[in-house]
Amino acid sequence: MADAASPDLATGPSTTMEERLRDPYPTFAWYRENAPIWQGALADQSMIPPEFLPAEQWVAFRYEDVSRIFRDTKAFNSSGYGETIGLVFGPTILGMDGSTHRDHRNLVANAFKEKSLQRWEPEVIAPICQELVNDVAGLGHADLVESLTFEFPTRIVARLLGLPPDDLDTFRRLSIQLIGIQDDINTGLEASAELQVYFQQLIDDRRSAPADDMITDLVEAEIDGEKLTDELIVSFLRLLLPAGLETTFRSSGNLLYLLLTHPDQFEMVRKDRSLVGAAIEEALRLETPLTGTGRTAVNDVELHGQLIHQGASVTALTGSANRDPRRWQNPDVFDITREPIPHIAFAAGPHLCIGLHLARLETRVMLNVLMNTLPDLTFDPGDSDPHIHGMVFRSPDRLPVTFTPR
Ligand code: HEM
Repeated sequence: MADAASPDLATGPSTTMEERLRDPYPTFAWYRENAPIWQGALADQSMIPPEFLPAEQWVAFRYEDVSRIFRDTKAFNSSGYGETIGLVFGPTILGMDGSTHRDHRNLVANAFKEKSLQRWEPEVIAPICQELVNDVAGLGHADLVESLTFEFPTRIVARLLGLPPDDLDTFRRLSIQLIGIQDDINTGLEASAELQVYFQQLIDDRRSAPADDMITDLVEAEIDGEKLTDELIVSFLRLLLPAGLETTFRSSGNLLYLLLTHPDQFEMVRKDRSLVGAAIEEALRLETPLTGTGRTAVNDVELHGQLIHQGASVTALTGSANRDPRRWQNPDVFDITREPIPHIAFAAGPHLCIGLHLARLETRVMLNVLMNTLPDLTFDPGDSDPHIHGMVFRSPDRLPVTFTPR
């Protein structure tokens, strides 16, 4: 929580939590200029048991600081994950540092390389997306969150892991419960335990009958001649749900929301498909789906005159860094034609998102399939008020659209 010397959030331009959930950017901008390293926590932590919370918490708002925090591994490491989400997910690469992190990351890195994913586009990703879009194409209307943006990455992760198709309903339910853990910790923990049993069974199956999937890769992997423990394998598999499913679900919803609410730019992309990549990157910058991620101070460290004590947690607020006017002109404007300057939505340094090529590929395929199949897709909110919201994770909860049925 903020100490007495820190400005209170209420001194920022938006005052209520509801306003900040809908549009946290004026608040981010206020801190970026007035208190770029701020002691406190932005998200509502009332649902999190105190034992999961660090004693000293800071937030970094500027691009330069966020980038340094990710890259300067002597000053900031990822050990804090072990005491927070590690309690739910178990030991994962997210919470490892140094050579341990490198060795474990290398085991799975290959599957996520751009080259390894090439065959996925025609064989898996495009057919799954086309099937989901075809399911609604005859209706003339749809909610794209319900019919597409969640289901699409769920099926991709299920396929990546090699789950039996009949397990999809169970996997979807457990995924929803696990990623909802911030709002309902007990259900989330139950889902985590159920996933452990489920994945353990699959690991045992793959040991006796290897297949062409990531679980088999992990079962067969070795570091210095040692196989991975089942605990490590289960933890990695569980991590893919918040890391690979939730982020992509939210980022693709944000992209569609921004295009649907900026029809002139949507039209530009329809006419010139070479703009698809720029639209994806601009949406990731402007509406970063995961607005921040944590690091731990290795020693006492001073930033902007603030003394951060050893062991303190520091949130690198990518959602604020991506709108830093020191790096982008008119940073609050959605403009797919702006000069392409790399954003930091996928973090940076050794923990740079391992799934970024897959995320970009999925989103590109989704947008192209939608534009090809439903060329006159139009936002149709009626009296409702669909909008992007959230503090840590951000996305729209609905995307009502109409189109000519086919
Ligand atoms: C737009 C979608 C995505 C966004 C915005 C995103 C964002 C991030 C960020 C910010 C990190 C760094 C976390 C930290 O160091 O604290 C990260 C790491 C990671 N992401 Fe992603 N991610 C996305 C998609 C994916 C996908 C599709 C997968 C896999 C299926 C994935 C798997 C991972 C994994 C395993 C890590 C841990 C890497 C490590 O610790 O070395 N992500 N992601």
